[in-house]
Amino acid sequence: MCGIVGYIGFREAYPILVKGLHRLEYRGYDSAGVALIDDSNKLSVLKTKGRVQDLEEYARDKNTTGTIGIAHTRWATHGEPSNANAHPHYSQTESLALIHNGIIENYSVLKAQLVAEGYTFQSSTDTEVLVQLIEYIKKLNNCDLFTAVQLALNQVVGAYAIAVIEKGNPNNIIAARKSSPLVIGLGEGEFFLGSDASPIIEYTNKVIYLDDEEIAIISRDKEPKVVTISNIQKTPEIKELEMNLSELERGGYPHFMLKEIFEQPQTLLNCMSGRINVEGTNVTLSGIIDHKDKFVNARRILIIACGTSWHAGLIGEYLFEEFCRIPVEVEYASEFRYRNPVINPDDIVIAISQSGETADSLAAIELARKAGAFVYGVCNVVGSSIPRNTDSGSYTHCGHEIGVASTKAFTAQVTVLTMMALAIAKEKKSIDEVTYVKLIKELQHIPSKIEQILKLNDEIKKLSLIFTYAQNFIYLGRGYNYPIALEGALKLKEISYIHAEGYPAAEMKHGPIALIDNEMPIVIIGTNTAIYEKVVSNIQEIKARNGRVIAVINEGDETIKALADHYIEVPHTEECLDPLLSCIPMQLLAYHIAVNKNRDVDMPRNLAKSVTVE
Ligand code: AGP
Ligand code: GLU
Repeated sequence: MCGIVGYIGFREAYPILVKGLHRLEYRGYDSAGVALIDDSNKLSVLKTKGRVQDLEEYARDKNTTGTIGIAHTRWATHGEPSNANAHPHYSQTESLALIHNGIIENYSVLKAQLVAEGYTFQSSTDTEVLVQLIEYIKKLNNCDLFTAVQLALNQVVGAYAIAVIEKGNPNNIIAARKSSPLVIGLGEGEFFLGSDASPIIEYTNKVIYLDDEEIAIISRDKEPKVVTISNIQKTPEIKELEMNLSELERGGYPHFMLKEIFEQPQTLLNCMSGRINVEGTNVTLSGIIDHKDKFVNARRILIIACGTSWHAGLIGEYLFEEFCRIPVEVEYASEFRYRNPVINPDDIVIAISQSGETADSLAAIELARKAGAFVYGVCNVVGSSIPRNTDSGSYTHCGHEIGVASTKAFTAQVTVLTMMALAIAKEKKSIDEVTYVKLIKELQHIPSKIEQILKLNDEIKKLSLIFTYAQNFIYLGRGYNYPIALEGALKLKEISYIHAEGYPAAEMKHGPIALIDNEMPIVIIGTNTAIYEKVVSNIQEIKARNGRVIAVINEGDETIKALADHYIEVPHTEECLDPLLSCIPMQLLAYHIAVNKNRDVDMPRNLAKSVTVE
């Protein structure tokens, strides 16, 4: 959650900081602020509730000069979104300004101690406690800012990415991280700071990713120095970014979400590129080849993830069980981490995450590693925390995903899981050569089939108008398409705020069928399944109760066409690849309903792209 940007160099900081905040706004967007030190060494904070645009409005007639500054866009955890709770926070004497991403878990104990020392607080955030603590320690020990930050962080329990600047000290930004990402960009005579690389890429592709419990001293004209909170000097590794600036722009689309939906034919090609041989007959994932024996001998696969990534994991379960004959359990990372799970050393844990920063998934990985399991990451953001904390993995390579509702990352995750299942099955000899080659060939046809479905955009837009004012939705699917029912419902609820539930179609008669009346739209995925006849019966059951059926069907399916109120026709594919096609109408339907309702599609209320708090 939240976006952090920092700049120190020879240019005016404010425009760089604000542009960076716009790039990071998808991470949190309830308030925004900047702190700057001007030429007379004055430290000023400008902040407001609302979006980055509101901050720009607010700052329009204020002094925004200075070549050093830090900026923040907030996703509130402690205290409502308000001007006072917005970051940066000043210390008591206004000599320090600090921005923070994360949660200081022991903030109330620390706050009580500071109150006893005479400190007063302007906000209800946990963050303000930290900046006051740093000032208090600095005075008490008469030390420099870095030392005060280091001593303070030793007292902190929780997660943080922070940046601090100090009045009268225009030459240093002190930044630190624990469980929340932070990247330093190295320019020529200038340095940048970001929660991710998106505010940095425009200026430099050389970066340092801070690790947990590391503090960076970013000084004008000097390479950043990195020291841990227990005072060990580190030699930071300089990495090169692979990000592309055009990924960060909307490219003519009204929303990032629509752009990302339409990018899927290309992102899936990128995901497969270099992994499937030119003849299209073999799939190789280096992360698996390097650890072949582990996969061949795995007794069980545990998949851990959250949200949409968890839905991809459910499809993974079907794939691994069908083709590799390895038992699979799919767990919500947030439950797994707290329920004392049984983890064996011959288990393989697959962590799926777009951002690679999800706090619950990271904690679940740590637990699995401690128990001796082999952990494999399926992530999108290169260099993020999950790939850095796993034994091996495969990137999804779908480019930067900005829309809060995950779309292209989901299809890329499912594609990676499919390639993994095929590669492992081949090694295990649990798949015959004919099926293996047939599935690889068909996987390569998926991008052009998605292209075909995207041509239905206008049709789906028209359909969306009929259902814009529905209060509830049910999504049903079976087999490989059951997770798509869950995903369709999640997409709709997160961006349109319409209540939606996903169910395995046959479960309907065990309860949800009571909800059906002539007001209730039911989206049913009736494509390509071994139990097609049973799906048809489920539709009959809904129609017998006057439900309004929107069916996703295979081209030419006259049976369901005759039964359903509305239908969306998608091309045929192999059953196990069907989710890659059936999810596209779900994404488009949710998108258009949300647009009709005038929702903020890319930044829906209460959400944030990267969930770095638990
Ligand atoms: C997806 O549309 C969601 N916004 C959300 O469920 C997301 O998938 C979840 O927070 C997991 O994120 P991750 O993939 O970055 O770990
Ligand atoms: N816990 C802090 C707050 O509520 C930081 C939240 C964030 O990461 O944006 O202000």
